[in-house]
Amino acid sequence: LDDLLAEGVQDRFVLLRADFNVPLDGYSITDDGRIRAALPTITRLVGGGAKVLVMAHLGRIKDPEPLGRDKRSSLSPVAGKLGQLLDQRVSLAEDVVGQSARDVAASLTAGGVALLANVRCEPRETGSASERDALATELAELVPGGAFVSDGFGVVHREQASVYEIARKLPAYGGDLVARETEVLRRLTGDPARPYVVILGGSKVSDKLAVLTNLLPRVDTLLVGGAMCFTFLAAEGNDVGGSKVEADQVDTCRELLAQYPDTLVLPVDVVAASEFSADADTREVQVSDIPEGWMGLDVGPGTVRLFGEKLADAATVFWNGPMGVFEMEPFAAGTRGVAEAVADSPAFSVIGGGDSASAIRAAGLDEERFGHISTGGGASLEFLEGKDLPGIAVLEEGS
Ligand code: 3PG
Repeated sequence: LDDLLAEGVQDRFVLLRADFNVPLDGYSITDDGRIRAALPTITRLVGGGAKVLVMAHLGRIKDPEPLGRDKRSSLSPVAGKLGQLLDQRVSLAEDVVGQSARDVAASLTAGGVALLANVRCEPRETGSASERDALATELAELVPGGAFVSDGFGVVHREQASVYEIARKLPAYGGDLVARETEVLRRLTGDPARPYVVILGGSKVSDKLAVLTNLLPRVDTLLVGGAMCFTFLAAEGNDVGGSKVEADQVDTCRELLAQYPDTLVLPVDVVAASEFSADADTREVQVSDIPEGWMGLDVGPGTVRLFGEKLADAATVFWNGPMGVFEMEPFAAGTRGVAEAVADSPAFSVIGGGDSASAIRAAGLDEERFGHISTGGGASLEFLEGKDLPGIAVLEEGS
């Protein structure tokens, strides 16, 4: 971004990819962390007099509805929040590359900011390579003489038109958020201070296998929580009742437990519930005592203490994925307890991802108590797996 600003952006178009995929309750944004994280780059561009046209997505759209009809996917709450944070009007186009997008772009003045419609309403965004290429050409045509700035760290692992192909159509630069995120994550893939403790949660062990197998040889301790712990607990021989188990992953989990018996640490107790509901009957039980038909929906207090002990003398911590169904209050204590233990730990801590980051903010913990709160869930995991992230690799191509 420094290079672009040094060239000068006064009255020049900048097409910016941001990650504004924020959690919503109806139309209200429940965590605006990702929007705030984009402000440094946007403010610098606005300060330089650029005409900033932002591309962003919201949710996953299976069958893009005719534009404008699917209100759930509208970025209008985002445009409102961004305008409020920037203290200026942010207009929102009704389409991605159609007449409305052209009109909105043409009406931008120096220092102005506008948003295109949810880029995933345009099927070519996630289409074949040639479809994505064609869409990127049309996106570039919206901003004659313009530059592309990639600042949606949360989407840099996606080979999509507004992330990847567009960087080949315009002079491309990394934004401040992408620069900061990659710098911090490189500290973890390089030579992190030890002990290095990783906490993984979330629902599916199958989603985390690549990162598990990549990290296990390189970390000192790997704490497992979230629904994915039940597949490990089942592999250890526990009867986990009606808890979520991925039957086809049990053997793999058993092999990992045998190979890394000292590194992998599983919960010792859980909050079991009679059903998947905030009104369910609940009990704190040892992992071997989950009542028949009941399901574990959070880690228990003994586990929070155990994980806390491991975190107390860590030097580096990476955490991805909630410990339980934290959106429901009866199952939020495990995630909150682990968040507090990470905050208390003297370690350099990196929080990877949407849900864990939201959980920290929902728990009211001061963000300053963490080394870095990443805006990218999948992106930070893929970075730690050592994968090449298309949205970053494509920027390096040009430099
Ligand atoms: C995220 O929420 O992690 C990013 O915005 C990427 O979203 P996606 O997983 O739908 O591509």
